[in-house]
Amino acid sequence: MTSPGLKSLVVGASAGLGRAVAEALAEAGHDLFLVASDRRDLDPVARDLSLRFGRSVHWLEVDLLALDLDALRSRVAETLGRVDNLFLLAGQAFMAEDGEPLPDAKAERLVEVNLTAPLRIANAFLAEMMAGGGNMVGAGSVAAVRGRSNNMVYGAAKRGLESYFEALRHRLGATGCRIQFYRLGYLRTRMTAGQKLPFPAMTPEAAAAAMVANLGKDLGTVYLPAWWAVIMGIIAALPWPVFRRLKI
Ligand SMILES: NC(=O)c1ccc[n+]([C@@H]2O[C@H](COP(=O)([O-])OP(=O)(O)OC[C@H]3O[C@@H](n4cnc5c(N)ncnc54)[C@H](OP(=O)(O)O)[C@@H]3O)[C@@H](O)[C@H]2O)c1
Repeated sequence: MTSPGLKSLVVGASAGLGRAVAEALAEAGHDLFLVASDRRDLDPVARDLSLRFGRSVHWLEVDLLALDLDALRSRVAETLGRVDNLFLLAGQAFMAEDGEPLPDAKAERLVEVNLTAPLRIANAFLAEMMAGGGNMVGAGSVAAVRGRSNNMVYGAAKRGLESYFEALRHRLGATGCRIQFYRLGYLRTRMTAGQKLPFPAMTPEAAAAAMVANLGKDLGTVYLPAWWAVIMGIIAALPWPVFRRLKI
């Protein structure tokens, strides 16, 4: 289905899920504004999408650890204009988060990239989105469903983001703006590269196709893929004496 004339801002657009979402949106006829931390990734992605799909694709190199919201907002306003869809997909995880206290700089990084920066960007575009309708889309994680020792800080940050999106849905209920927040299972991206995963990983392209197809729906928080609801339902229901012994 194509939606020519729509404009989408994708944060975390240079790799993995964000890159796949940018491609699916360009294919559906959206003009784009892409954000990630390295221009050497952004520029070729933007050129490629613009060439293949004939869309207008702008980008800005932004390190979410040093986010300048005014610069981002004014660059988006000058180039893309209004924002119909805001995808907050950037994320970072340290697979070595194994229950040992993280060095402070790493803990700060996880909270900034997975919680503080996406929350601040959503907040900065909120008034505009409320006036114009559209969609706010967030990337959460199954890691946030029940606190576990092997992703203590990452899971906490994603749970914070999930709470913010829940509040957004409550706040935006009476407006034309729709909220979709995904508790994502494993994705086949660099975040999971080289890891032995206990469950199958979804391709970023399949996840992106589902997310773009869901635009316009008042979804709230859902699992992607949906079968993770069964696994996490079991994990969430485990009695504490059983759960505390699990090495997961
Ligand atoms: N992969 C999984 O199995 C999995 C599972 C559950 C949830 N998720 C969530 O799904 C989302 C997408 O993950 P992914 O697997 O596609 O990750 P990915 O392949 O590592 O891509 C992450 C994207 O976020 C951007 N990003 C990270 N740190 C940034 C920073 N400081 N400043 C600006 N941009 C930054 C990256 O750009 P740069 O390279 O320029 O930094 C990249 O575009 C994330 O929110 C992740 O937490 C992933």
